Order: sequence, then C-alpha cells, then structure tokens
Amino acid sequence: MYTIQRFSELASTNDTCKHNYAMLSDQSVILAEHQTKGRGRFERTWESNEDLTFSILYKQHFPSPILFPLAIVKALESFHVAALIKWPNDILVAGKKVCGILIETVYEGNQKAAMIVGIGCNLSEKEGSLKAKAGYVNINKEVLLTDILHQCTSLARLSQEELCERYRQYHMLKGRKIKLDDVVWEVQDVNSDGTLTIRNAKGRRILHGGEVTLSS
Ligand code: BTN
Repeated sequence: MYTIQRFSELASTNDTCKHNYAMLSDQSVILAEHQTKGRGRFERTWESNEDLTFSILYKQHFPSPILFPLAIVKALESFHVAALIKWPNDILVAGKKVCGILIETVYEGNQKAAMIVGIGCNLSEKEGSLKAKAGYVNINKEVLLTDILHQCTSLARLSQEELCERYRQYHMLKGRKIKLDDVVWEVQDVNSDGTLTIRNAKGRRILHGGEVTLSS
C-alpha cells in the first residue's frame, strides 16, 4: 500500500528517501513539484520543470528492477501513448526518452536496508516531452502517478519469469545493433534476471547494467 507525501520543492526526492529512510514507512512515495538538484543515472543532473518527479521507498520486499519501466509503459498505455523500453529502464516514445528511472540501494553493513526507485517523467510542453509525443494529449500528473503505482502493485504479483516475458514485449533493443567501447554487437535478448545478452562474431557477453548506445 503506497502512501504519498507531497512537497512543493525538494533537492531530490531520491535524496529525501535516502536521508530519511529509517523514519519513513515501507512503500512511502515522496513527490516533489520541483527539484533543485534532481539526479539522473551516472551522476548526471536531471532537469525538471513540469515533470512528474517522485521516489518510492521499499524496505521490506524489493521488487525486480524490470518492474518499474514496465509499470510506466503500461500506465502510459491508458493514455493511448505507445512507449517502449530501452534496456535497462529508459522509456522512449517515438525514439525520444520521456521518462528515466534511478534505482539506488541503501545498505546497513552488508545488509540491503532500502531500495529507492526515483522516477522522472517529462511532461513539459517542450519538444521531446511526453506531452508533445502524446500529441498534446493532456496527461494529468495525478492520474499518471496513480496509474504507475497501481501498475507497480499489480505487476508485483507476477513471477520474475512472467515479468520478463512482459518486459520483452516492449523491449526496443531486441535484434538491434549497439556499440560498446567502439565494438558493434547485436542485442540478443533480456534474460529473466534482467541482464542483457549481446553477441557478435567473437562471442557473447552478458550486460548487468549501464547505458547502451545504438550503432545505427
Ligand atoms: C535517468 O538518468 O534516466 C534517471 C532519471 C531519474 C530522475 C528522477 S526524478 C525523481 C527522482 N529524484 C531524483 O533526483 N532523480 C529521480
């Protein structure tokens, strides 16, 4: 059961979860209208103006990371927006990234104490945003948030294998050529543990995370 706490401004909803995880309850959702130091993957900054920006804190059961991009894609379907997932967890509409996910873990000793899932959906009117891509369909922030959380709840009932099966339906990299350290590989598939198998004439590799660049 998700409990939402709303703030008009925070530095970063992920940081708020991280600094307060001990006091916050499991499945707390921290939402900010505006972030002053929003963070993206690989230490990048995440600029947000009219975005939907929130983080979910898990302290008891830690869902599979592949659940979250899937929850967003399914939620967008209810707005008739056809989105795809660029492994591991970028959401693309018509080839442009419209949502990003930053997953972080808090440890107490070697014990995983909390998982923080930060989600940013670009809802601004700027080109490349979800609104523009949805043909200016009015995507109501509140409804989108409710739909994403609803999807998180229902997808959490699926096995990892079932989740992966659904993820594959939206997996835009399958069969595509990607570049890694200047070497071209073909993406085979996403595996049930969420890793990515790539291959070329020299062999196969399993990717556990990171960022993949399309070669063409
Ligand atoms: C990415 O680099 O694609 C991930 C972007 C994640 C941004 C969200 S916005 C809400 C949460 N708080 C943050 O500081 N970052 C995440």
